[in-house]
Amino acid sequence: MAEHPSDGFPTDGSPPIEGQSRVAKVVLGAMSDHRSVRAFEAVPVEDTTIERAVTAAQCAATSSWIQGYHLIQVTDPTERARLAELSGGQAQVAEAGAFFVVCGDTRRHQLVALDHGQSYAPCTETFLLSVVDGSLFAQNLTLAFESEGLGTCYIGGLRNDIAGVDKLLALPHGVFPLFGLCVGHPKGGPEGRPDKRPRMDPTAVWSKGRYPADDEVRASIAAHDAVAAEYYGRRGAPGRNWSGGVWRKFVQTLRPDLKAYYESKGASFT
Ligand SMILES: Cc1cc2nc3c(=O)[nH]c(=O)nc-3n(C[C@H](O)[C@H](O)[C@H](O)COP(=O)(O)O)c2cc1C
Repeated sequence: MAEHPSDGFPTDGSPPIEGQSRVAKVVLGAMSDHRSVRAFEAVPVEDTTIERAVTAAQCAATSSWIQGYHLIQVTDPTERARLAELSGGQAQVAEAGAFFVVCGDTRRHQLVALDHGQSYAPCTETFLLSVVDGSLFAQNLTLAFESEGLGTCYIGGLRNDIAGVDKLLALPHGVFPLFGLCVGHPKGGPEGRPDKRPRMDPTAVWSKGRYPADDEVRASIAAHDAVAAEYYGRRGAPGRNWSGGVWRKFVQTLRPDLKAYYESKGASFT
């Protein structure tokens, strides 16, 4: 397994902060060291590593303890190749050491209701509960893998043809994909990972008491555009910034088939 460059733990390279515990330094270092990895060595991820990560990830908080998610590890190479196609030709889906589909799971709750002779009332909230629970679990899972020196990449592209994914995996009623997750040993080791993508200044996403005025929001966008332009320049794509990517993404209705698909799986937006 690839070694981390520091003392065995991932680190963002920052100096120790007075009064900060070693655990906090390591955990915050691992979180801050994240970057999405899209090129992997052809080495599988061991089941023991996966089991450790899943077990830790399950400790994420879960709405009312409902644990409304399910993780499917896709192991069949032919299925993975097809999922790579369905995700818009993303080769890492087929090539990563392991590939998972994170699903919202309302079926388990429906079975509980059924077995107690009760009805199950799907609504917007039950759908959201599974999306929120699944996302919290997935991010814990990602962090667990990254702390083991593995690279990760979420695959929202899985929703490009969500009905195709559903059919391929023969998902039962009440279980629906949220996104995929590639995990594996980064090609070229830790040094082979891409540069970190900058985030907005913390004050842009954190305010006290009230949401900031539009002028303030616009100022933080301009500041982030400058940082992003520098990032793109370093990566050989001068002239690009953050807001250009944002408006281009949201100028069209994204994946308009999703509502009908999720409803077909038993979700209800009432
Ligand atoms: C839910 C979700 C879905 C994503 N889907 C994809 C994807 O389909 N393909 C991809 O290459 N990256 C995907 N990403 C990764 C984002 O592009 C990436 O997190 C973002 O650009 C920030 O870069 P960083 O993760 O390297 O910091 C996804 C991220 C999230 C959270």
